[in-house]
Amino acid sequence: MVHNCHVILLIVLSFIFLPCMKSSQSNDLRPYIIQMDVSTMPSPFATHESWYFSMLSSLSVSLNDQDAPTHLYTYTHAMHGFSAVLTASQLMQIEQTHGHVATFPESYAQLLTTHTPEFLGLKPNLGVSAASNHGSDVVIGIIDTGVWPESKSFNDEGMPPVPERWKGKCESGTQFNSSLCNRKLIGARFFRKGLKQSGNRVSTKNDYNSPRDFLGHGTHTASTAAGSPVPGASYFGYAYGCAQGIAPMARLSVYKAIFLDETQKAAATDVLAAIDQAIFDGVNVLSLSLGFPNMDYYTNVIAIGAFAAMEKGIVVVCAAGNDGMAYSVLNGAPWIMTVAAGTVDRDFFAKVTLGDNSKNIHGRSIFPSNKTVYDGDLYYGRGNKRMESCDIFALNETTVKGKIVFCSAGDDMSEQISEANRCEALGVIIVDNKKTFLLPGEYNVPAVIIDPTDVQVIKKYIKEGRTAKASLIFGETELGLKPAPRVASFSSRGPNYISPSVLKPDIMAPGFNILAAWVPNKSVQMIGNQNLYSDFKLDSGTSMATPHVAGVVALLRSIHPDWSPAAVRSAMMTTADIIDNTGKPITDMVASTVASPLDFGGGHINPNRAMDPGLVYDTGSEEYIDFLCGLRYTSRQIGVVTQKHGYKCGKASLDLNYPSFIVIMNGTSEVSRSFKRVLTNVEDSPSKYRAVVNAPAGLKVAVIPPVLFFKGKGSKQEFYVRVDVNIKGKGKGITGKFLGNFGFLSWIEIGGKHVVRSPIVSASTLQ
Ligand SMILES: *[C@@H]1O[C@H](CO)[C@@H](O)[C@H](O)[C@H]1NC(C)=O
Ligand SMILES: *[C@@H]1O[C@H](CO)[C@@H](O)[C@H](O)[C@H]1NC(C)=O
Ligand SMILES: *[C@@H]1O[C@H](CO)[C@@H](O)[C@H](O)[C@H]1NC(C)=O
Ligand SMILES: *[C@@H]1O[C@H](CO)[C@@H](O)[C@H](O)[C@H]1NC(C)=O
Ligand SMILES: *[C@@H]1O[C@H](CO)[C@@H](O)[C@H](O)[C@H]1NC(C)=O
Repeated sequence: MVHNCHVILLIVLSFIFLPCMKSSQSNDLRPYIIQMDVSTMPSPFATHESWYFSMLSSLSVSLNDQDAPTHLYTYTHAMHGFSAVLTASQLMQIEQTHGHVATFPESYAQLLTTHTPEFLGLKPNLGVSAASNHGSDVVIGIIDTGVWPESKSFNDEGMPPVPERWKGKCESGTQFNSSLCNRKLIGARFFRKGLKQSGNRVSTKNDYNSPRDFLGHGTHTASTAAGSPVPGASYFGYAYGCAQGIAPMARLSVYKAIFLDETQKAAATDVLAAIDQAIFDGVNVLSLSLGFPNMDYYTNVIAIGAFAAMEKGIVVVCAAGNDGMAYSVLNGAPWIMTVAAGTVDRDFFAKVTLGDNSKNIHGRSIFPSNKTVYDGDLYYGRGNKRMESCDIFALNETTVKGKIVFCSAGDDMSEQISEANRCEALGVIIVDNKKTFLLPGEYNVPAVIIDPTDVQVIKKYIKEGRTAKASLIFGETELGLKPAPRVASFSSRGPNYISPSVLKPDIMAPGFNILAAWVPNKSVQMIGNQNLYSDFKLDSGTSMATPHVAGVVALLRSIHPDWSPAAVRSAMMTTADIIDNTGKPITDMVASTVASPLDFGGGHINPNRAMDPGLVYDTGSEEYIDFLCGLRYTSRQIGVVTQKHGYKCGKASLDLNYPSFIVIMNGTSEVSRSFKRVLTNVEDSPSKYRAVVNAPAGLKVAVIPPVLFFKGKGSKQEFYVRVDVNIKGKGKGITGKFLGNFGFLSWIEIGGKHVVRSPIVSASTLQ
């Protein structure tokens, strides 16, 4: 049945902001994560947990017991320790206990909100999909808003029995019976003890006290990664086709750590508990479409949990964020795979037919397609004074009501739609400002966005006709559009603020108008006062890009179970595409300027090539610890991240064996940086590669030696790169955001087909 699926549509833009809120708890009780060094546990205790409980029960409490501490979670796999609600004085007592490593006050994360498998070149009987048997025996863990288990995307038809090693479970709860899990959805749990302490009301009226998804985001991301094929999926007719995930045979285990409460946020205590559980259960890939505000790795539970996961061979894939600005990348720890969002070669259209049938104008729209507007009165301006804009309160509702408004100018397209909606217009024709875009949910009146070149046609018709009329016909989907991919304007850009010496993000994947499963009980859109519902939804964000990468990781894991997480990432980065479907360098979706590795890392993911990279840049926990030493982390801070306590830095180095190169300038002054790298042959046969540098005059790059010989599989070779940045040198600079330049180093196999390409970037410090 996989073979019948042609168009695969999975999708996001959930700009759900989850601001930090002060606890409104009385008497000073607050949630904390307490990290402990378990090697110091006194011998009478049989388990870590009994030690922690004994510590909590020995704390002093007031006479009325009102400030008794509450245990939230015990952490064992992602970190050693526990979380609890404590008073300041109780916290002080715990911090004086021998074995206390670190305290984290509660913090809150935000969510970073599908044609795509075909766009990525995935074909059922060929390449990576066939070689991996579509990812069977790989489990993808999704930490998100839960799952809607009845969605057809989680149908387990044709799936073999659950792997025996799997330790995960399905938890029952509100509207969720554990029998809802199956061979596709093999785990479902929920974590909300921390959020309940946040001082906000977790809405029990709305969100489910169970793994069931209320918000829809988790159902979308899970089905994008590994949804089963669903023929005939669409968003009100748009993107119609067979929707399926990237690894349609992989298993899913969902960990719900985000609930709808008054502010919508995820508590660090809950996210850490979810990672802890996922590691224990035995996931192979972890996908997190959420992020905490940028903070040092020793205070970020995703960075800490991901380190433990990486040590167990789990690939952790995280969204880069939706801030769109330089230095805004989230989840940039070098042991994480950080994902940027790009567009796909698909868009949605509507037709404007003028009353005299003189002309059909082709515009863009995602207005629900079954609402064609026939023969409406076309409204443009008042009397002789032509209206130019439909900005807020520009229209007179008495005159506009029931008409199709033509807004020939204006900057903010969302605002123009709102204004037409306020006036109860029948429809609206907007001119593309080429600067912004609309989300599907913003089309709450029948709206068509036309190209500026079509404005005169409509103006001419209105001037000629006595009663100008128009029809708006919705529901066209076009594929194969060019150029694609482009970097989504909202995708967060590098460098990484916390450790700029490693280039981030790592890779780009589809994250714009992705169609994927949605929760049928949550409205996708409002038209007038009517809510619309759909089993599939178009959505955009790095949230949507992340599960695409998690799905590809699952396919690669099936084929190469012996590769380390760093090797998997290297294979994907060095084989990614840097040109689009017109054969030109990838550009930015809104600015149309040439994009750089600060936008897309190694490039746009190419799963079939990632299966066979030739060589990889491998690395592991020792090198990551040397890197933390290079960041001048103290022994204690290193212990917090790695659970290795009392570590004494021998080698401190910011030069990780990473598949990319970045030189950070001091302000705008010229600098040089030298890199040492080791490549590992992952082919069975010996091979020979030569270095080819493609760099502008502003980057002088030397590679020594220029040729490398590899024996069979596992053979390693070192080389050195020196990059001199000459800011006066012309070249394709990094435009718009700030000063910088970029090029590429490719190791090209002599007499073979492999090309192992790495980006080389220079970038100024944050101005
Ligand atoms: C869960 O489903 C099973 C099988 O359908 C049923 O026997 C059981 O009573 C259900 N449990 C709950 C708590 O509803
Ligand atoms: C058409 O729109 C109405 C709401 O106006 C909705 O109830 C109905 O399900 C839609 N039909 C289809 C086929 O999308
Ligand atoms: C809106 O149009 C109506 C009818 O032409 C008119 O009476 C009214 O004064 C107008 N309102 C404004 C605010 O211009
Ligand atoms: C979904 O909505 C329907 C209709 O309102 C309701 O009957 C059903 O119980 C809801 N399902 C869940 C799981 O909340
Ligand atoms: C950067 O440049 C400033 C002034 O040009 C200098 O004071 C500072 O020490 C430099 N920093 C580094 C890290 O080189």
